[in-house]
Amino acid sequence: MPKSYDIIGHIAVIEPDDDEKAAAEEIMRNKSIKTVAKKLSAREGVHRTRQLKIIAGDKNLETLHTEHGMKYKLDVGKVYFSPREGEERQKIASVVRNNETVLVMFAGIGAYAIAITGKRPETKVYAVEINGDAYEYMKVNIRLNRVDALVYPLKGDVRDVCRNMGNKFDRVIMPSPSNAHEFLDVAIKCLKKGGSIHFYTINKEGEEDFAKGLLLAEANKLGRSATAITSRKVLPYAPRMWKRCVEARIT
Ligand SMILES: C[S@@+](CC[C@H](N)C(=O)[O-])C[C@H]1O[C@@H](n2cnc3c(N)ncnc32)[C@H](O)[C@@H]1O
Repeated sequence: MPKSYDIIGHIAVIEPDDDEKAAAEEIMRNKSIKTVAKKLSAREGVHRTRQLKIIAGDKNLETLHTEHGMKYKLDVGKVYFSPREGEERQKIASVVRNNETVLVMFAGIGAYAIAITGKRPETKVYAVEINGDAYEYMKVNIRLNRVDALVYPLKGDVRDVCRNMGNKFDRVIMPSPSNAHEFLDVAIKCLKKGGSIHFYTINKEGEEDFAKGLLLAEANKLGRSATAITSRKVLPYAPRMWKRCVEARIT
């Protein structure tokens, strides 16, 4: 039996060291699973995609995933999507207030942006994504969930796309733990006075304050201050390493 695996729509994704034959036999007993794929690499590059090998079932890696009543179409080989972050999306959606204007950087297939509108239907959400495939799926997902009037998809590098978006947002969400720290200056400039930031990063056990320090330093550099700073574990990333979310108000 595989130790753990992700289910994304009709696809089960198993770990690199799982026994292919045993895993496929066991998982395919679940009639809603039509494909079993194995991770061949870690997430790589700017797009954070990984190589997969189909070991059983249908060869189609495009699927329709349902999460908290929202539908997400995606190709698991071409874009980043993690069903493990479903609860985190709900947590973020819960702290957004109605009527806010929100920027979701690194938006992927639109799951954070669309989850927010599910809970807060009077928000406006701008969602920026550099991977052309993810951006196309985000547009499809906006239509699928009928949130065309609430979510504005934007294609490109956040540094370029958000260049002229100074002081525009009540809230900026940065769900890309591997590289969000490189764009803290862009995010802080985009915030209105008193706006909130959610900065995702990866930290080693025992270095919990490092990410807070990064955010404070960047705010100070821009002549702003970060108050009400909190930092919380989101998910395990590797042995003794965590995905963490640092949240603050920028004044
Ligand atoms: C870790 S994934 C998260 C995707 C999405 N937030 C989610 O949770 O499903 C990071 C995403 O950011 C995108 N990305 C990376 N660098 C970017 C940049 N400079 N500008 C815009 N998008 C970027 C990648 O293509 C990828 O889709």
